[in-house]
Amino acid sequence: MKALILSGGTGTRLRPLTYTSAKQLLPLANKPILFYIIEKVVKAGIMEIGIIVGDTHKEVKETVGDGGRWGAKISYIHQPRALGLAHAVKTAANFLGDSDFLMILGDNVFSMDLDIVIRNFYANKANTTILLHRVDNPSQYGVAVVKDGCLAEVIEKPKNYISDLIITGVYVFDKTIFPAIEQTDPSARGEYEITDAIRKQLEMGGKITYELIRGWWKDTGKLEDMLEANRLILDELESEYPITAFPGSLISGKVIIGENVTIKDSIIQGPAHIDQDTVIINSYIGPYSSLGKRVKIEECELDNCIILNDTRLTGINKRISKSLIGRNVSIRGGINRRPLINSFLVGDNSEINL
Ligand code: G1P
Repeated sequence: MKALILSGGTGTRLRPLTYTSAKQLLPLANKPILFYIIEKVVKAGIMEIGIIVGDTHKEVKETVGDGGRWGAKISYIHQPRALGLAHAVKTAANFLGDSDFLMILGDNVFSMDLDIVIRNFYANKANTTILLHRVDNPSQYGVAVVKDGCLAEVIEKPKNYISDLIITGVYVFDKTIFPAIEQTDPSARGEYEITDAIRKQLEMGGKITYELIRGWWKDTGKLEDMLEANRLILDELESEYPITAFPGSLISGKVIIGENVTIKDSIIQGPAHIDQDTVIINSYIGPYSSLGKRVKIEECELDNCIILNDTRLTGINKRISKSLIGRNVSIRGGINRRPLINSFLVGDNSEINL
């Protein structure tokens, strides 16, 4: 079995960060989202991986490399325009050949292992097996109706309620998906939807089975979802820190601290992840914070934040919370404003003086 990971999307809902960085490379607990997905694929025993890339191909290739660090072989397939998931599969036809394949979206994170989905596919001799999840807001996803362990109907972003089971973006296909894609027309949003191709496969007599998500699942397309995914991952961390290395500071809870980090006269309350060469002075770093490399926090309080490399926060007198702050941002405090919360979605190389 091969794997196809989709990393071509533009991440419009996370602008301005995605003007300068691929959304699949944004970090959760200081690790790119895409790395979590590659790890899941490799853990399921698939070593031959194709990654669909678009405009951000250079950055994705530079960051991910040839797969050697996971013992896998990664090839890149360029999709010149983001014309939908079914179009991405078609673009990868040469890479996939006649092989069965696992397809997975590069911006979804979840806790369950994928071998369960692959086992279902082979045990049931299915043409397709998809991973479903029960949610409160199904209308913004592909939605499935199921019967006796199989899919009975599937619709992309249905206007009227048909079911609360959504398609999570994890699929196992055999080669019968290709003729189904050939018969798929573009949707109202102008994309070749994989959901429509799966419906064609059903109409052509295909057998489509499903598994339900076990544990948690997050589509990281929006700020609040990124923060929640960061919280879920930080909750699973094991921590070890040299407590004596930071005199004058109090560190408690699960905290991961990288090399050459300076913490002076500060309180760190985990779960938190602090990457190498970061400096924290006279500050409070509260739960669910991920600070990247070479970050500098001085005279600040923060919690529930993702802060990317080389950013500097100084003298902000209200707590920074629920924020995703890009690379090389500088925010200096001073002025009091109500309400007493700071909340940011700020792009790379920004500078804010409060
Ligand atoms: C895509 C799929 C949809 C699926 C969703 C999962 O939607 O088309 O079926 O439920 O991913 O994240 P999009 O993110 O393109 O709106």
